[in-house]
Amino acid sequence: MIKPHASDDLKPLFVYDDAKRNALIVEAESLPSILISSAAAANAVMLGAGYFTPLSGYMNLADARSVAKILKTTDGLFWPVPIVNIVPSARGIEPGQRIALKDPNVENNPVIAVMEVDGIDIASDNEVSEIIEEIFGTLDKAHPGVAAFHALGNVFLSGPIHVLNFSYFEKDFPDTFRTAVEIREAISESGWEKVVAFQTRNPMHRAHEELCRMAMKDLNTDGILIHMLLGKLKPGDIPAYVRDAAIRKMVETYFPPNTVKITGYGFDMLYAGPREAVLHAVFRQNCGCTHLIVGRDHAGVGDYYGAFDAQTIFDTHVPKGALEIQIYRADHTAWSNKLNRVVMMRDAPDHKPEDFILLSGTKVRKMLSDGIAPPPEFSRPEVAQILMDYYKLQ
Ligand code: ADX
Repeated sequence: MIKPHASDDLKPLFVYDDAKRNALIVEAESLPSILISSAAAANAVMLGAGYFTPLSGYMNLADARSVAKILKTTDGLFWPVPIVNIVPSARGIEPGQRIALKDPNVENNPVIAVMEVDGIDIASDNEVSEIIEEIFGTLDKAHPGVAAFHALGNVFLSGPIHVLNFSYFEKDFPDTFRTAVEIREAISESGWEKVVAFQTRNPMHRAHEELCRMAMKDLNTDGILIHMLLGKLKPGDIPAYVRDAAIRKMVETYFPPNTVKITGYGFDMLYAGPREAVLHAVFRQNCGCTHLIVGRDHAGVGDYYGAFDAQTIFDTHVPKGALEIQIYRADHTAWSNKLNRVVMMRDAPDHKPEDFILLSGTKVRKMLSDGIAPPPEFSRPEVAQILMDYYKLQ
C-alpha cells in the first residue's frame, strides 16, 4: 500500500490507549485552558485522525511562514498549508506549559486536546498578511477563507498535541466520519491497491458522478473513495448531512456494489483553491489513496482562481518525489446534447458551448428552492429530490 506522506507509518495523534487518554482527561481538568478557534479544532481532528502525518502538532510562526512561502517547514518537510493554532491572546500561558484546548464547536466546550506549548509567537500584521496572501492568493476580505484567517488573531501557539476526541464528527456523522487509520484499514481489508479519491463539499450531480466513473476506468482502479468535507462551510453551501444523504442515494442507485467507499473528514473548508488541492493530495495519500481527482475550480470560490490552477500547482510548486499520490486531471465535465452522455470537454473538441447543459450554481440553487428539479442530465432525480426536500425546510 502507498506509504503515508514522508513517513513509513501513519502518525495519528489521537491517544488510542484508554488508560493514557483517561489520565490526560483528568490532567486537563487542572491545566490552564484556552478556547481555540474552529480552524484550530479542525486541525486537531485532522492531526488526531492521522490525516496530517507526519506532523506532531501545531506549527510555530517560522514554520507557518516557510510553509506559506515555499511549501516546506524549516526542517524541509514538504507541506502546503500552515497547520496552526492562532489565538487572539495568550495571556496567562507560558512556553513549556501543558494546556487544555477547549473545543468551540461542542456544547460546554469540552477539552479536545492537551497541548505542550513549545512556543508563543506574536506575528506582526504584515506577517499575518503575507501568510494569508501566500495561501489564498489574495488579501480580499470578501474571500471566506481570508476573512476566517484574519479573524483568528496573531498569536501562534506551537507544540505537540495529544488528541482526546474527534469533536462533533463522530456523533454527528457516525456512518461517514472516518479517520485516516480506519480508511487505510478498510482499503487494505478490501484488498484494493489502486484507489482514487474524490474530494467533495457539494452534493454530487451527474458531472461529479461521471468524473468518478471516468477516473476509475481511465486509471483502472480497484475502487473509489468518496471523501467529503464534514466541517464548516460558507453560508449558502449545502450542509454535510444533506450531501451525505444525496451521495449515499446516488452511489446505492448508480454504482456497482463494493466499488465505492463513502467517507468524510472533519475539517473546515479553506476555499484556498490550489493550495488546498495540494493539502487534499497529502491527506489522501495518508489515507492510502494512490490518486486524487482534481477537476475544474477545485476547492475554489468566486473568481479568485483560474479554473485549472489547482492542477498546474502540482507542476509549479510540488517538487518531483515530494508526494507519491498522483493527480487525475479532469477537464470541465458536462452533459453533451450531441452525444447524449456526460463528457469531458477536451474529449469533445467539435462542441460549441451551447451543445452542453451548463447550469450555474446560483441557477441550480434557485431551481431547487423553487421546488423545480434540474434536468436529469444535470442531476439524478433521486439526488434532486433530497435537495428539494432540504430547500423546502429553509
Ligand atoms: S470542492 O471545493 O470540494 O473542490 P466540489 O465538491 O464541487 O468542490 O468538487 C469536487 C471535485 O469535482 C473537484 O475536484 C472539482 O474540481 C471537480 N468538479 C466539480 N464539478 C466539475 C465539473 N463540472 N467539471 C470538472 N470538474 C468538476
